[in-house]
Amino acid sequence: MPFVIAIDGPAASGKGTIARALARHFGFHHLDTGLLYRATGARGGDPVCAARALSPADLARPDLRSAEAGQAASRIAAIPEVRAALVAFQHRFAAQEPGAVLDGRDIGTVICPDAPVKLYVVASDEVRAARRAAELGADPAAMLVQLRDRDRRDSERAAAPLRPADDAVLIDTSDMGIDEAIAAAIAVVDRARR
Ligand code: DC
Repeated sequence: MPFVIAIDGPAASGKGTIARALARHFGFHHLDTGLLYRATGARGGDPVCAARALSPADLARPDLRSAEAGQAASRIAAIPEVRAALVAFQHRFAAQEPGAVLDGRDIGTVICPDAPVKLYVVASDEVRAARRAAELGADPAAMLVQLRDRDRRDSERAAAPLRPADDAVLIDTSDMGIDEAIAAAIAVVDRARR
């Protein structure tokens, strides 16, 4: 059985960095599931058709990282038929040997509820806004408003809302450096694999 690490959390919490580092450390495949929603939003047109027609080339578009692409992704991600169209791809990805790390909003709750490791990565709103603003060269105050808006939409939607699974381990990266956050995550996985 391939080993699955499910990582969820709000925008810019550090979950992507942790997911990439875990995949590298354990030699697992990594899927940033936010890209699926960003690519669906970026295709334009009917989002349900866009999600059904998604191809690997769509995921490689360089414009998917922008704040606008994130907002568009958050809006179309509230549509249940969009989410349903993306499930099979995520399940196939998670079934790869020797293991996979998936990060997103509903991995531990909906996509991989049986994952042996579930992490829920958080950080204070201010820290997250500062990080994302530095990454994108944007204004931290404007970024704070955007992130809160997106988190509220992602948490309050009816379909697969952002929330920790009951058995998720919480990692708060507000006062952690990258190396410390990665070490904390590796320790959780090591305990589960023992
Ligand atoms: O992780 P991200 O910032 O790239 O995600 C962009 C948006 O996609 C996010 O605001 C909500 C949506 N999303 C989701 O609904 N479920 C996921 N598993 C991943 C992302």
